[in-house]
Amino acid sequence: MSTEPFKNVIMLPQTNQLTGLYTIIRDQNTKRSDFIFYADRIIRLLVEEGLNHLPVQPTTVETSTNQKFEGVSFLGKICGVSIVRAGESMEQGLRECCRSVRIGKILIQRDEETAQPKLFFEKLPEDIAERYVFLLDPMLATGGSAAMATEVLIKRGVKQERIFFLNLICSKEGVDYYHSKFPDVKIVTGAVDPCLDENKYLIPGLGDFGDRYYCL
Ligand code: URA
Repeated sequence: MSTEPFKNVIMLPQTNQLTGLYTIIRDQNTKRSDFIFYADRIIRLLVEEGLNHLPVQPTTVETSTNQKFEGVSFLGKICGVSIVRAGESMEQGLRECCRSVRIGKILIQRDEETAQPKLFFEKLPEDIAERYVFLLDPMLATGGSAAMATEVLIKRGVKQERIFFLNLICSKEGVDYYHSKFPDVKIVTGAVDPCLDENKYLIPGLGDFGDRYYCL
């Protein structure tokens, strides 16, 4: 597989190690504690990859041997925004990489009457428009919830170019739909699955991520 199948889709390097991690979390016989452990490892890789794409400025420091080291430092602040509930599983991975990171939440659920996604709740950092935003949701299926969440961010003044949408698996259809609305958002993912089933689950996928991560 090419490492960048679509514009603004940043794929994790498809190493044997990564394929091994996906093999464990996709296996229906994997028990919950292992699912959490190996999903967390992938989440950490996604966060690290997202951080690789943030702008930096040249920064020189003096080392403990009194020598100069010409390095870089990050420009700008970041925050996370998780799409509740499954996206919350990715918050810890972000916290492990970015100390004291601000994390907002968006709750979108299917409206019983219309069967369409509906925004129920948003709690976001006040200064979110000045930040780079890591939008967190482990599965990009149809793209409906992610698009609604991104709309919320944009209404709050966040530029598309400053949004990184991190997910473990996305569908081709979901990527196309999402990018037809937000072509400049970068999707950071480890796997692109070919299709969805009649219940909008990813195929081959891994089932319901939230259930496997949170339920016994
Ligand atoms: N959400 C999930 O948890 N799994 C899918 O396959 C699609 C959406």
